[in-house]
Amino acid sequence: MYAVVEFSEKDSIGSLREATNIPHSQHEATVPFKSRLLAIKANSGNPSLSQPSVQCLKQTPIGVKELIQKLSSEDSVDQQMYSLTEEYQLTEENVCLRFLVCSLLKDIAAAYFPECIIRPFGSSVNGFGKLGCDLDMFLDLDPISRGNIKQPSGGLSLEYQMKRTSSERSATQSILAVIGECVDQFGPGCVGMQKILNARCPLVRFAHQPSGFQCDLTANNRVALKSSELLYLYSQLDRRVRAMVFSLRCWARVHSITSNIAGAWITNFSLTVMVIFFLQQRSPAVLPTLDQLRDLAEPHDKCIIEGNDCTIVSDLSRIQDQGNTETLEHLLQEFFEFYGNFAFSRLSINIRKGKEQYKPEAAPLHIQNPFEPTLNVSKNVNNTQLENLVALCQESAWLLQKGGAVGPGHNRDTPWGFAALLLPSVSQAARSKGKRRKTLEPASKRMRSLLESLKSSKTSAGAADSSK
Ligand code: CTP
Ligand code: MG
Repeated sequence: MYAVVEFSEKDSIGSLREATNIPHSQHEATVPFKSRLLAIKANSGNPSLSQPSVQCLKQTPIGVKELIQKLSSEDSVDQQMYSLTEEYQLTEENVCLRFLVCSLLKDIAAAYFPECIIRPFGSSVNGFGKLGCDLDMFLDLDPISRGNIKQPSGGLSLEYQMKRTSSERSATQSILAVIGECVDQFGPGCVGMQKILNARCPLVRFAHQPSGFQCDLTANNRVALKSSELLYLYSQLDRRVRAMVFSLRCWARVHSITSNIAGAWITNFSLTVMVIFFLQQRSPAVLPTLDQLRDLAEPHDKCIIEGNDCTIVSDLSRIQDQGNTETLEHLLQEFFEFYGNFAFSRLSINIRKGKEQYKPEAAPLHIQNPFEPTLNVSKNVNNTQLENLVALCQESAWLLQKGGAVGPGHNRDTPWGFAALLLPSVSQAARSKGKRRKTLEPASKRMRSLLESLKSSKTSAGAADSSK
């Protein structure tokens, strides 16, 4: 059991340190690096330690089975999606723990770079983090060079002697290699170090056992920090955004559209951008385009990173609500139909313009990186994975249309609405449909006619109801 202890006075930390021992073991040696992780050892015959009276806070979400059960007891699909978000979202304590781990790692990196800062980014801070998600960190060395351009006095100037490297990339690679090595050798509880230095964005990956976080440490990745800020902004603009993203991330994971392992799968980040793009397409729009966010920015918001304009408004009150009042159930249905019929072969998803564009290159799925327009966020995705997503969207559109609402006398033990979309049978049906598609008429055409027939039967049923 671990506890995070916050002291109200700095002096207390000093006295705590004084009272703390260096571990001694007859069979093992220790690296004499004093971390801020301390272990309380129970002296024999002290029963109070073996029976803690505190209640532990949960750091992992409930399992899918339990989730399906919980959602089935809700009253509407909208309620189900909000309830899922509540269950899955990071708690305040978990976010604090993420900042703490960054600061513990800074203690190690500071041996070389005393002024560095380690900042969390990605889902830990972008408003879409699920309990148990990885911890993306950025080793920020900029504070070291900031404010260091001094006017020469008397014709002489001083400069630090610094090691020179051939490129920024090779400097980043060697810094990460060395810090990674230190974390691996000296960081208590840091295990399974992998150095992935030849990736487009070099990183070191390891597990931090005490917190249970899978950690990715990068350097020189400032644009990703900005895209986390952008996602956070979108997550705050409308309550429905987080409910849509959390629900669809969960749906995609349950049906293996996304994965914990890197590969040709769609990532949570790509899926989130797809949701944002969809919400920009509604009329009136639920979310503004990135160009609109740039146009609303004030002079102090200006931000250029590596030649890319990353300016976005920071004062959210400048963004006008367009007055879209669609229900989550309706938006979800429309999302499935939208991507179930999207012309992925020709079109690219672009949240800057809020419009689809012709694909600039021949990747199966093309999603323009919000701040680096020449990059495709979903470059890794192959045809099979895209087909699986499309088939699953079509199947889910059909299922939701068929059984979205709870009818009178509905048995709450049977999964319905969004909960029904999480059942394994959905993905199996979608897969076999994907295979059938090659021989039968195009799935999208068939699905559209099925949906149309369902809609018209619903409308006539609704008309009959209201005439009663
Ligand atoms: N990122 C990016 N381009 C990519 C992948 C990632 O710019 N092709 C940036 C995004 O800002 C993303 C962050 O790197 O939020 C972290 O990536 P990742 O961990 O893959 O995504 P998360 O958003 O953190 O989602 P998850 O919960 O799956 O970790
Ligand atoms: Mg992440």
